[in-house]
Amino acid sequence: MAKVYNWHLGRDMSYPYEGAYPERQWAFVFNINRCIACQTCSFACKSTWTFSKGQEYMWWNNVETKPYGGYPQGWDVKILQLLDQAHQQAGLPARWDQSRRDGAERPYGTYDGLTIFEAAERANPQQEVAIGYEPTDQEWSAPNFYEDTPTGATSSPGDTTLEPVTLPEHKTWFFYLQRLCNHCTYPACLAACPRHAIYKRPEDGIVLIDQERCRGYRKCVAACPYKKTMYRATTRVSEKCVGCYPRIEGKDPLYPGQPLETRCMSVCPGKIRIQGLVPMNPDGSWTEDRYNPIYYLVKVAKVALPLYPQFGTEPNGYYIPPRWAPRTYLHQMFGPGVDDAIERYSNPDRELLAVMQLFRSTQQIIFRYEIIQGPKVFEATVGGRKWEMYNDTVVGYGKDGQEVTRVSVEEGVQERPMQYINSL
Ligand code: SF4
Ligand code: SF4
Ligand code: SF4
Ligand code: F3S
Repeated sequence: MAKVYNWHLGRDMSYPYEGAYPERQWAFVFNINRCIACQTCSFACKSTWTFSKGQEYMWWNNVETKPYGGYPQGWDVKILQLLDQAHQQAGLPARWDQSRRDGAERPYGTYDGLTIFEAAERANPQQEVAIGYEPTDQEWSAPNFYEDTPTGATSSPGDTTLEPVTLPEHKTWFFYLQRLCNHCTYPACLAACPRHAIYKRPEDGIVLIDQERCRGYRKCVAACPYKKTMYRATTRVSEKCVGCYPRIEGKDPLYPGQPLETRCMSVCPGKIRIQGLVPMNPDGSWTEDRYNPIYYLVKVAKVALPLYPQFGTEPNGYYIPPRWAPRTYLHQMFGPGVDDAIERYSNPDRELLAVMQLFRSTQQIIFRYEIIQGPKVFEATVGGRKWEMYNDTVVGYGKDGQEVTRVSVEEGVQERPMQYINSL
């Protein structure tokens, strides 16, 4: 295997191919704290891409209730178990070394454990490029199994490690996890396909399955740790989220020539989603782009974290973790950046509060933002500290530098004139 640098892990890791990086990378940030599980995102995708015969079970976007829910059922527990077995066999701990944190380049320190690629490499003889499994029909049968099912504060008698850390009056907890293909920088699906039928687009990093080349070998289904490639029995080839590439290319007649956020992103009534394109350097690191909202949230404010970074695919979906869930659970899911991210999100500074207003304020992809400072409108004590709120205005600019959105921190109030008081 080749060696590639994975900045989520803060180190080089094994991958079957040399690194090849797009000019810009398709990426998103989801704020878990805001999701209402309405599934509008799931249905927007389904009604656009997966409404045909053989695609019935395909939910390229799904929203599951954690800790029990999952589609396919138990997907993350199974991958974590496989990874754990590999560590036990190798006699290695799966640790993060946070003393090696280093700014935007190594924001979470280094991961000293095995990735799914490295775990597979240790098998003798090596059978697969990544450890994984193919879900059964039964596991694909209930997309929203365990919806809204909470868990108790402890995982077993005497074990208090899952005790909620905030809102202690709530003795049970759950949260919604919104999931789609992460268009990974080091896709396991791509690495596993013996037909070389999966490719990553050089212009935007979207990962696609070539429907002509695919022969239905399903190695991609087994290798994707997020279980986001799906086999279609009617065509005998696999399919996956296409990143709504026509919208990214500016082909949507709504705004000709302008990159638009994907279908699942642009419909979200909870305003939890923002999507963008981050510029990349030829070595796979993100080019510093301070006022790109995605760059700011991930690399500067560091409130948004990758999902299961230890898997090693360098996923390009980032999550603002829920404030109320047990930290041990969140550390396993989002890595060691969780505590800082929740602290910053709970006491947002002026810039973060303004940038948070950009979520779902336009369908056009925001390439740069600017903040116009406004007056102080509120003051409070949060967590024993003084917190001030300013009515700043944040302006978003599109691909060609044109203004695409303008929102202020305080929501505007519309007073309906008397003559329209009772009419639409
Ligand atoms: Fe959550 Fe938004 Fe999807 Fe609704 S549309 S389930 S709020 S992510
Ligand atoms: Fe491939 Fe899975 Fe990564 Fe999507 S999430 S690019 S399907 S490995
Ligand atoms: Fe579906 Fe497009 Fe969202 Fe992918 S990006 S899950 S194809 S709506
Ligand atoms: Fe390859 Fe997956 Fe098709 S492994 S052949 S893309 S089913």
